[in-house]
Amino acid sequence: MPGSLSPIDKAKFAAAKRATQFVESGMRVGLGTGSTAAWLVRCLGEMVRDEGLQIKGVPTSSRTAKMAREVGIEVISLDEAKWLDVTIDGADEFDADLTLIKGGGGAHLQEKIVATASDKMVVIADLSKKVETLGAFPLPIEVIPFGWQTSKTLVEELLIGMDVLGREVNLRMDGDRPFVTDEGNHILDLHLRRIGNPRQLSLVLNQVPGVVENGLFIDICDAVVIGHGDGKVEVFDITEGTNDVTRFDILDDDNLFSDLTD
Ligand code: A5P
Repeated sequence: MPGSLSPIDKAKFAAAKRATQFVESGMRVGLGTGSTAAWLVRCLGEMVRDEGLQIKGVPTSSRTAKMAREVGIEVISLDEAKWLDVTIDGADEFDADLTLIKGGGGAHLQEKIVATASDKMVVIADLSKKVETLGAFPLPIEVIPFGWQTSKTLVEELLIGMDVLGREVNLRMDGDRPFVTDEGNHILDLHLRRIGNPRQLSLVLNQVPGVVENGLFIDICDAVVIGHGDGKVEVFDITEGTNDVTRFDILDDDNLFSDLTD
C-alpha cells in the first residue's frame, strides 16, 4: 500500500489504534479477521515490539494467525487459552443494539466461537458499517459440502416465512470453484435486503441440517469503535452505557503498514 492512506484506511487504522486501549499486558486476546482487524493485528504487533506488550493472541482464521505470527504476537489456540479477556474484530454491518452481520471474509464460524468465549467483544469499523436495519449486506451462512444444495433449498423454503425483503441465496464462489472456509465448508450468501427479526432468523437458520453457523452476532458485541477518515474515533460501549470521542493525528506519511495486504 504505497503512498498515503485513503480516508477509509485512515478510518480503519484510527479505530484499530483506539481499540488497542482495550488490551493490557497479560491478556488473552481474540484477533479478528478482515481488513480492519488486520490493522489491529499490526498495531498490537508494534506494541509487542516497541512497548513490551505481553499478550497471547487467539486468531479467528488461518490468515490472521499468519499475520499475527509475522508481527511477533504469540499465537495460541482457543483450547489452550480456554477463555479470553477481549476479542477485537471487524463487522460487515452493525445496528444500534450492536447486533452484527459478519462473515464477509468467510470466517464467521471461528469468529463467533472466539467472541463468545471472551469477557468482552469490541467491534472496530468505519462509519459505513453502521445501519438502521440489518440486511443490505448479504448474510453469510456456513454449510458443510455434503448435500449443500439440499441445505440451500431448505434455507430458501424457510425464508418464505421470515420477515425479510429479499430471498435470493447464492453459493459463494472463489473464481470458478466454491469458496472453502478454514473448516473445509462452503458459504451461502443470503440477499435479504432487510432483516426484520434477526433473533428469530438466527435461531431458525441454525436448525437447518447442514448449516454450521450463520453470520448474525446477537448479544455478543459489547462495544463498537467507529473510525473516521479525519482521525476522529467514537467508542460506544453498550454494556458500560458510555459514548466517548477521541481524535488521532494520522500523518500522510504514516506508512507503518505499507506491506498490509488483507
Ligand atoms: C470476516 O469473516 C468478517 O466477519 C470480517 O470481520 C468482516 O467482513 C469485516 O471485514 P472488513 O474489516 O474487511 O470490512
